[in-house]
Amino acid sequence: MSFARHGGRIMLDRLEPQSPDALLALIKLYAADDRADKIDLGVGVYRTNEGDTPVFGAIKAAEAKLVEQQDSKSYLGPEGDLGFVHALMPYIFGKNDATKGGRIEGMQTPGGTGAVRLAVAVAKQAGVTAIHMGTPSWPNHAQILSDVAVTTRTFDHANADGTANIDAVLGAIRTAQDGEAVLLHGCCHNPTGIDYSNDQWDQIAEALANSKALAIIDVAYQGLGAGLEEDAYGLRKVLSAVPEALVAYSCDKNFGMYRDRVGALYVMAESSDKLDPILSNLNALARASWSMPPDHGGAAVRVVLRDDKMTGQWLEELGDMRARMREVRTTLADAGDVGTLDLRPLGNQNGLFAVLPLEKEQIQRLRDDHAIYMAGSGRINVAGLHKGNIDKFIAALADVTS
Ligand code: LMR
Repeated sequence: MSFARHGGRIMLDRLEPQSPDALLALIKLYAADDRADKIDLGVGVYRTNEGDTPVFGAIKAAEAKLVEQQDSKSYLGPEGDLGFVHALMPYIFGKNDATKGGRIEGMQTPGGTGAVRLAVAVAKQAGVTAIHMGTPSWPNHAQILSDVAVTTRTFDHANADGTANIDAVLGAIRTAQDGEAVLLHGCCHNPTGIDYSNDQWDQIAEALANSKALAIIDVAYQGLGAGLEEDAYGLRKVLSAVPEALVAYSCDKNFGMYRDRVGALYVMAESSDKLDPILSNLNALARASWSMPPDHGGAAVRVVLRDDKMTGQWLEELGDMRARMREVRTTLADAGDVGTLDLRPLGNQNGLFAVLPLEKEQIQRLRDDHAIYMAGSGRINVAGLHKGNIDKFIAALADVTS
């Protein structure tokens, strides 16, 4: 018996072609460039002075222990490795009361992206229809909001002089309606590197306490700014002021686990007895999305955090990363005026990223003439710079902006 070819309904050819994600596409463009002195300032990964992104020594040690001791890879559940989820909590929420009297619980997610997606999805399930977001933001934030089908309302994150626009965020919080949420970056803002000061976080926390908006805080870079404790100031301040909140967390950067996709979503409920129904919604959403998170990276982080020696090594490695990025920022800030750019504000910013006010054509010239790759928004990954390439970068900026 033969079947008529193409007799049935064809639907998949109705799909509109989509452009590849611009940031991830840069990885391939950079790899294909064979100029020896090329510089990758694109996707946000930490690099050493030699331009490498090595596996943390603490993670290597934990992985060796896992190979030796892990006795099963049987399923866990949609919440993943709760040992991992709980081991992180003192670092995120503070050692003294990491669960806020039993009001905070979490679950493992595939990276910080999975955590943001789950946060937005559960917020929608709870009746949130619109989310306020400072712009510019990590481009995937807007993509996730659109994909989960909530309305995005934007406010300006930063002023032209490289400082945070506190009036804009307070305005968004104060005017937010019931059924709306505000998405904030906990520290090391992506893409600008412009964080709220502690005083500004105090104002944000107070505004949120008096607002109808649900707080969703994305913490993807804890420890890459001023320090693990310092970087948690804003998050902890907000949590001490509001009745409930969602916190998306990533270990992809501060444990260097990028491709292992290590994240967690935490929920703080109004009271401990209100946690279970929320968690049951999160479990159901996770089950329908990825069923269970990938185990390996979370297990390795758990092993690190349960071992004092490995924890010490991790803290040292994280401290080295932070110090090197601070050095790069200082060198850039010391360069001052470069062509039409003023690099001084970069010295006061935090984390992996900064945005340079470059025209599209200047960004293209940096790529074509100088083999320097950065996002089309002008975002640079400062960790892509080091002693061996920073002078070339500054000279190239002068060239394309003069
Ligand atoms: C980045 O912004 O470069 C990172 O957060 C990686 C990503 O997934 O976009």
